[in-house]
Amino acid sequence: MTTEKTKYPPIRRKAGERDKLLRPGWKYIEPCNMDHYTPEDWAVMNQQRVVYQAEERAKQALEILLASRDAPTFGYQINNYEHCLQTATMLHRDGHNEETIVVGLFHDVGFIVCPEKHGPFAADLIRPFISEKNLWMLERHEIFQRIHLHGFYQPEDPDFINAREQWRGHKYFDWTAEFIERYDIVAINPNIESLPIEFFEPMVRRVFSASPSPV
Ligand SMILES: [Fe+2]
Ligand SMILES: [Fe+2]
Repeated sequence: MTTEKTKYPPIRRKAGERDKLLRPGWKYIEPCNMDHYTPEDWAVMNQQRVVYQAEERAKQALEILLASRDAPTFGYQINNYEHCLQTATMLHRDGHNEETIVVGLFHDVGFIVCPEKHGPFAADLIRPFISEKNLWMLERHEIFQRIHLHGFYQPEDPDFINAREQWRGHKYFDWTAEFIERYDIVAINPNIESLPIEFFEPMVRRVFSASPSPV
């Protein structure tokens, strides 16, 4: 029998075991096929869900970010997790509001796993809790970044590189351009000491506890 360690933790739940509920007094919904849930089952589920979301949404969002804390890089001097922390740190030091700092913290949360659409990825994660201005910026930030990536695109297509120009004059154009220039393309610096994730955690909890818009 091999004692070789696997890279993943051992199986946690065996067949027949249930995962624990968040609260001791809560109920499991018994059917194992959602087709068989009754309206009463859904009423219980939805009641428990509201509390669960309030307690777990920010925590689990942070855990998604934290999953890449020790990841190596493909050339940048700091990894994507440190980049996100550095962006948030710079926004904080410049006196931006809590929502904007949290937006900065999550702006590239999907950069490795969903690179082509990482702006909308981050926007969807945090959409219910942020202003139209920051949502607009998040969704388009990767397009606004193109003009700074000299030599990245081969062959160079000026229309693609300058795609942000389609929004020139929009009320959030300047903020998006500023975010990229001051808080994104320069947040790759190993000489800058970022604030720890613990510093941002209460902000994340507060921002994520704003009333979500109906989905
Ligand atoms: Fe990005
Ligand atoms: Fe970024």
